[in-house]
Amino acid sequence: MNINADKITAFCRAHSEIREIVHEALLFDEVGSTNDIALEMASNGMPEGIAILAESQTGGKGRLDRSWFSPAGRNIYLSLLLRPAIQVREYPLFSPATAVGLVNGIREFTGLALGIKWPNDLVISDKKVGGILLVSSLSGDQTAPLVVGVGLNVNLEPSAFPEELRETATSLKAVLGREIDRTGLITALIEGVVAEIHHLQNGEVLTVMDAVRSHCVTLGKKVRVSTNRQVFEGWAETIEADGGLSIRLGDQSRRKILIGDITHLRETGSPSSAVTQSTISTKN
Ligand code: BTN
Repeated sequence: MNINADKITAFCRAHSEIREIVHEALLFDEVGSTNDIALEMASNGMPEGIAILAESQTGGKGRLDRSWFSPAGRNIYLSLLLRPAIQVREYPLFSPATAVGLVNGIREFTGLALGIKWPNDLVISDKKVGGILLVSSLSGDQTAPLVVGVGLNVNLEPSAFPEELRETATSLKAVLGREIDRTGLITALIEGVVAEIHHLQNGEVLTVMDAVRSHCVTLGKKVRVSTNRQVFEGWAETIEADGGLSIRLGDQSRRKILIGDITHLRETGSPSSAVTQSTISTKN
């Protein structure tokens, strides 16, 4: 069944705390990227508070310049166009806040408890179900637009994933064994994310970060970290107030990373058994 944007709009407008943040949903059949559409709308002066949805994307974008697999009619591709009432330098906090909101919304609607793999992958049993990509036209302006892009694998059969994703990705249907009403799920996601946005806008960053830590499946694990300049291994200790991941290295020193890619390694045990450090050259 297709997504019903009118129902989503009606739901948002019926709840005052939601409509302050999101008051309209627009559905496209096929777009390049909902994030690009949202940015374009922002540059054309569209007001904030719009949820842009698409049944498919031909150029879906993921983190670190990757593409996002976006087949038609099965998943959720959602971009919220916002002009948040917080400082632009705090916009990155929308990433952990959105992750918490999505986890809460999915649990409310389906009963399924997903984990957050740092920084903001939604996972179950270490397989990725969804991801978040923030984009902004950072102009130094307090009301610079922020686009919160969300991709969620919902009703996709495992066999429908391309070969290279089958080991690492899954969908809600594959886990739950039943089809999910995407319209209802989107309303739950928006409700969950909006609740976290209210926390941020009320200065309750600690509440958001506590929730992230409690859902984060990276903490306590041995991890391989890939940044744009280095690959190293260590133990994921905590998430700091700015969303950075604090890693303890083999020599007991700590490093904080703000941007990067994490691989969960199998080993568990003490930080003293951590490990190597090497330099690579990658684009990201
Ligand atoms: C990730 O790499 O984990 C982030 C994926 C984000 C994908 C979503 S789908 C809707 C929005 N439009 C895009 O082009 N990307 C985001």
